[in-house]
Amino acid sequence: MEVKIERLDDLGQGVAFIDKKVTFVPKTVPGDIVDIKLTKIKKKYNEAMLGDILVPSDARIPFKCPYFLNCGGCQLQTMSYEDTTKYKLNKVTSLFTKNKIDVSFALIENPKPFNYRNKINLKIVDGELGFFEINTHKMVEIDACLIADEVINETIILVKNFNILNGNVTIKCNQDNEVLIIIESNDLLNIDIDLINSKINLVGIVINRETYYGKNYLYETINDLKFKISYDSFFQVNPYVASKLFQIITDNVDANDKIMDLYCGVGTLSLSAAREAREVVGIEVVENAIANALENARINNLDNVSFILNDVSDEVDKMDIDYSKVIVDPPRSGLSRKVIDFLIKIMPEEIIYVSCDPQTLVRDYKLLQEYYKIKKGYVLDMFSYTHHVESILILKKRSEI
Ligand SMILES: C[S@@+](CC[C@H](N)C(=O)[O-])C[C@H]1O[C@@H](n2cnc3c(N)ncnc32)[C@H](O)[C@@H]1O
Repeated sequence: MEVKIERLDDLGQGVAFIDKKVTFVPKTVPGDIVDIKLTKIKKKYNEAMLGDILVPSDARIPFKCPYFLNCGGCQLQTMSYEDTTKYKLNKVTSLFTKNKIDVSFALIENPKPFNYRNKINLKIVDGELGFFEINTHKMVEIDACLIADEVINETIILVKNFNILNGNVTIKCNQDNEVLIIIESNDLLNIDIDLINSKINLVGIVINRETYYGKNYLYETINDLKFKISYDSFFQVNPYVASKLFQIITDNVDANDKIMDLYCGVGTLSLSAAREAREVVGIEVVENAIANALENARINNLDNVSFILNDVSDEVDKMDIDYSKVIVDPPRSGLSRKVIDFLIKIMPEEIIYVSCDPQTLVRDYKLLQEYYKIKKGYVLDMFSYTHHVESILILKKRSEI
């Protein structure tokens, strides 16, 4: 069946219309005329699989990754980098416009749009290692990932010889090319440490949460701040754009500020703020991340920052109310109603909301809008060639409250 792709949806899939019914066609570009096969027919929409490209869009470029057509990881490799960032900027802006919120976002580009990721999670099913296919649990076996750091790709080849039949492997690295391998599997493994050490700079291997070899953490240095990152602690996946994010935090903090950093991870934003601020308190639920954060404050000689291990929604009940600024960087689910109510109760001068999901960002801002206006917005291309996007809103307390 022949259709014309009209636009991309929020997940980076092409949208076409068949008898006015929305039809999603992954891996296409607006303007493409393509042959499709319907894979799901629902009352309100269809899902389809791309067949032949009959007339390519003027905007279409050849994809570089051999797995692109099947792999569920990237969606935007058939567009120029400039077009991918335009799409993301437009996606976030129009989400706010649809909600009658007027804001213009500054775009922060990724200086290294390929081979930028310092972490990938691979599945292993019946001895095949890779990612899942788009919208399925079928494996796409891979030897390399074009958006992962080169040293991660060298490590994938080594992991393939570990004899893992079923499980998960996470490979993390830092900008010094040091590698940490994290495995979850019940199989009997065959790991040749000498061989690995002859090929890459291996820091450690963790198997089923136990340290099997070396260390269970890495260090990474960004903007002259050194961070210890345990195998199970969150860290931004793109160090080049993370550097810009951390700088935005430092630039938006003043010497008199008393700051709360909710969902602080290993303390990246807390320490970026503590360089300028009078005092910072970070809250995080992962035990190793808080242990890392405490150590990170020490190794960076910042003694104006403290950390609390707890669920943010439980801890806010116990917190003081005299904070001038609150940074929030929650997971994709956004802020709980309790955290929103806490922010409205303590009413800091500014809220710096860092978000990896614009849908929950706009949902949460709508609840704060009566009390806060948008001082500045940023769209950061943290996850190049995927539909994902990082955004920041700097919110200022309305003067009339
Ligand atoms: C998007 S990350 C941000 C981390 C940090 N700001 C950074 O830039 O590295 C979200 C963090 O929130 C933590 N988290 C998730 N749910 C939480 C909760 N209910 N209470 C406290 N921390 C939570 C996660 O462990 C993760 O470290």
